[in-house]
Amino acid sequence: MQFSKNLCLLLASATSIGAAAVAGPARRPYYEPHGVPVLSNKPYPNTTIAGITVIDTPIVRLAREFTRNHSTEAVYKHQVRSWLFGSVLIAANETLRNSVDIEVHAVAAILHDLGWDTTPNSPVTTLDHRFEVDGAIASRKFLEQYADSNWDARRTQLVWDAIALHTTRTIGYYKELEVQLTSMGIAVDYDGPGAVVTNETFHQITAEYPNFDLKQATNDTFIFICATKPAQTYDNQLQPWGERYVANYSTKGNLRIDHIFDHL
Ligand SMILES: *[C@@H]1O[C@H](CO)[C@@H](O)[C@H](O)[C@H]1NC(C)=O
Ligand SMILES: *[C@@H]1O[C@H](CO)[C@@H](O)[C@H](O)[C@H]1NC(C)=O
Ligand SMILES: *[C@@H]1O[C@H](CO)[C@@H](O)[C@H](O)[C@H]1NC(C)=O
Ligand SMILES: *[C@@H]1O[C@H](CO)[C@@H](O)[C@H](O)[C@H]1NC(C)=O
Ligand SMILES: *[C@@H]1O[C@H](CO)[C@@H](O)[C@H](O)[C@H]1NC(C)=O
Ligand SMILES: *[C@@H]1O[C@H](CO)[C@@H](O)[C@H](O)[C@H]1NC(C)=O
Repeated sequence: MQFSKNLCLLLASATSIGAAAVAGPARRPYYEPHGVPVLSNKPYPNTTIAGITVIDTPIVRLAREFTRNHSTEAVYKHQVRSWLFGSVLIAANETLRNSVDIEVHAVAAILHDLGWDTTPNSPVTTLDHRFEVDGAIASRKFLEQYADSNWDARRTQLVWDAIALHTTRTIGYYKELEVQLTSMGIAVDYDGPGAVVTNETFHQITAEYPNFDLKQATNDTFIFICATKPAQTYDNQLQPWGERYVANYSTKGNLRIDHIFDHL
């Protein structure tokens, strides 16, 4: 692939006339990483957010900017917290430190709710895909636009899978560790502290990114999705509410999702 691309550039420059042809194509470094995972068992580019050491690379920064552009404040904070909680889970476990690609995890966690964008004519959502698939497709487009050569097809696919399956834990928890950890970090944000994410760590993170608006934001988003594309709720945890919405469309506004948190 890379070779034939270079060959094309070479042929193109050989047959064209002018300054560009004389200069030739820009030299590429001899070695460009391609599909190399970023592991946290050795030093990696990092920053500290809410007391948690996390990966800090251009694509992770862009993911935060991109998701901020397409999320409400509440949903943005949820995605950042999910990333931080997942990072805590990874850091606490040697197997995970040795094997989870923390850049894949970061991008997936930070972008996982792009499908929750409720702005009219949003470029990241559709009426014909369930929200998880909207998010997965938008994330792939994001990576195609912004990622460097180390983002090969496999790493990109892992982000796609992690986002598409983040609510389907009966499948996601049997997939690659990056897929599992994306989902597990999100679960901590809904379920609260546990054995690994202690009370102290949980509160340290929610002090910086308060979660008081999470339930309301989730409720509002699910109601919006049920109202705008009920047929795309049928094979996920929104199904009971989507069905009710269709059956009782005229009673718009009566939808209650009080028990939805049992299913997340
Ligand atoms: C974080 O970055 C600093 C400064 O580059 C480096 O010294 C340190 O080893 C890094 N920490 C991790 C956990 O990679
Ligand atoms: C976020 O939005 C700003 C303002 O519209 C824009 O300049 C920037 O390029 C966007 N960032 C990304 C990553 O899409
Ligand atoms: C660490 O993570 C691995 C992979 O998910 C898991 O099998 C193992 O039980 C974990 N170890 C601990 C101590 O939780
Ligand atoms: C964590 O906080 C909850 C309530 O805020 C409390 O019930 C629980 O005992 C605390 N756990 C630990 C380990 O401190
Ligand atoms: C629709 O509303 C009626 C009346 O409130 C209720 O009995 C019925 O169960 C609802 N349908 C569904 C699918 O929830
Ligand atoms: C969700 O919103 C509906 C409609 O506004 C409301 O009746 C219900 O109590 C809300 N549930 C939660 C958990 O906030």
